[in-house]
Amino acid sequence: MLQRSRSFKSALVAAALCAGLAISATAHTESPAGGPKPEHYVKYRQSVFNLIRWNFGPMAAVVKGQAAYDSARFATQATRVAALAPMITEGFHPSTKGAKKTEAKDDIYANPAEFNRLAKDLETASANLARVAQSGNLNQIKPAFVATGKACGACHDKFKVDDH
Ligand code: HEC
Repeated sequence: MLQRSRSFKSALVAAALCAGLAISATAHTESPAGGPKPEHYVKYRQSVFNLIRWNFGPMAAVVKGQAAYDSARFATQATRVAALAPMITEGFHPSTKGAKKTEAKDDIYANPAEFNRLAKDLETASANLARVAQSGNLNQIKPAFVATGKACGACHDKFKVDDH
């Protein structure tokens, strides 16, 4: 008798556990099956942009003549931006539409081809900047930097809420 009630109890525990799993699986249906939650996409992409800014800002200061030019440092920063640029689109999943704490316009998901094209433009421009930065020749670097900055602005103008 005792034996039986014990196994009944453990059957109940097992059932509760299964129910718990089922509940948590249902709560995740908005994001891709088994994939990241919307807020994780948002955090991921904002992290990528912050890493880009961390490297891009000091390069801008050099190009504007506000900071000394250190060719090795500049080349490292340019290489990093070129490596980060292809990581951008991964952070924009339709499940993040209407997310809080984002400056991304929902238009992105109505025009994914255009958004991807603008991301590709940055990949091309930043890869070129990384290549030219190896020359150590600031006169060649400046136009490549300006072209990269334009690629940032083109996407922000269209798909970012507050441009700053
Ligand atoms: C293909 C489009 C696109 C390109 C190209 C792009 N951005 Fe952005 N950027 C965005 C969007 C959209 C956001 C808003 C992201 C969010 O809040 O979820 C953003 C946000 C940012 C942010 C704010 C991040 C934060 O803390 O929330 C910075 C900084 C930034 N971008 C810098 C840059 C720089 C520098 C470049 C060029 C080297 C660049 N971006 C290129 C679309 C782009």
